[in-house]
Amino acid sequence: MKLEERDKQYIWHPLNQHKTHPTSKGIVKGEGIYLYDEVGNKYIDGISSWYTAVYGHCNPYILQEVKDQLGKLNQIVFSGFTHEPAVVLSEKLMEILPQNQAKVFFSDNGSTAVEVGIKMALQHWSNKGIKKNKLIAFNEGFHGDTFGAMSVSGQSIYNKPFKNYLVKVERILPPTNQNINYVLEHIIKLVKSGEVAALVYEPLVQGAAGMKMHDAEALNNVLQLCKEHEVLLVADEVMTGFGKTGTNFASDHMEIKPDIICLSKALSGGVLPLAITSCTQEIYNAFLNDDPAKGLFHAHTYSANPIACRAAIASVELLQSQEIQDGIKRLNVLNRSFLEEIRSSNKIENTRQIGVIAAFDFKLENNSDTYGKFRDNLYDFFMKKGLCLRPLGNTIYWVLPYVSSEEQIKKVHNIIRQSIDFV
Ligand SMILES: Cc1ncc(COP(=O)(O)O)c(C=O)c1O
Repeated sequence: MKLEERDKQYIWHPLNQHKTHPTSKGIVKGEGIYLYDEVGNKYIDGISSWYTAVYGHCNPYILQEVKDQLGKLNQIVFSGFTHEPAVVLSEKLMEILPQNQAKVFFSDNGSTAVEVGIKMALQHWSNKGIKKNKLIAFNEGFHGDTFGAMSVSGQSIYNKPFKNYLVKVERILPPTNQNINYVLEHIIKLVKSGEVAALVYEPLVQGAAGMKMHDAEALNNVLQLCKEHEVLLVADEVMTGFGKTGTNFASDHMEIKPDIICLSKALSGGVLPLAITSCTQEIYNAFLNDDPAKGLFHAHTYSANPIACRAAIASVELLQSQEIQDGIKRLNVLNRSFLEEIRSSNKIENTRQIGVIAAFDFKLENNSDTYGKFRDNLYDFFMKKGLCLRPLGNTIYWVLPYVSSEEQIKKVHNIIRQSIDFV
């Protein structure tokens, strides 16, 4: 029996309405930019498996490091113990993180990285005896599926059933050069009480909202204003981190740096689950106390798993290599000229791009069906052409692995061009 059939017996998939979408495609192999299904079809992974496998699937360098670690130490309690992969990874991360970052806290997925970031921010103030317990976040943000992360996310299909159980959060518009004055005035009103603990934000790109992009200069103004009012900055770089926006981190585009940064996804190159929440020395110091209760009592069993850390060390080394930096530039340049070319089509709008992330929206007369047939037809169209993309409603976006060659990128562009004719 095919995997697709066996899967149906016991498995409940994420983000899936099983009544209308009962089957899931069986994938048997990933290599470089390709995924192979169980009946012999090959697909370009156009979204790097949710922005993780940016160095290509089964990257030989990462695999070699992982294999080496497998024979040494596979798992260890990370409270009271440490190990070389975690120590080396912390040193490597300090080479590339914004310079104000001083400490790293491990967990194992993007949602927990954000959860830890929120807890760090709130407890930082309570440890100091300062009443700051409100959070602000961007409209339409997405920060994950645990309760804290759901609370700071904009209301959507992801968190709506739980809306009565979430922490109350004030929302602001993501800042652009057009709305910046309005956004700054709004923030001033919100921070007047002196009770706002932190701003939680996806810097420059709101991924799940449909790869919506805002302006670095405007965001810098927002961050500056928050700093002036002692509002901590929690940057969720789970998606944007590790080269996606053309720099190591999206926060590198702004002068004002975050107090706390949440990382996962490409951190370990799509090989093993791992997450980091980094912070400044000032945040860390607020937890140093003779009273144990002032410490950060948050842990996950697999925190800083040694094999995952080893995959992450190899991934950071790859990110620093000339070959990968060239790959990021190649995607940037080719995506930009492709978007320039298709921009005049009357079927699409809002072409946008930063680093390796590219997107546009199909114009629709009736927006009510974007998450129904329209999206599913496009998804099927791309899959039949051998390209794995996951349209977000009428938004088409692609985040190709950094190892994509010019020919492969042009092939992807060609299929996307055909999709515009198809619609
Ligand atoms: C910006 C951002 N934050 C957090 C998350 C949650 O990460 P995870 O799915 O690993 O929990 C995601 C996932 O897509 C994300 O894009």
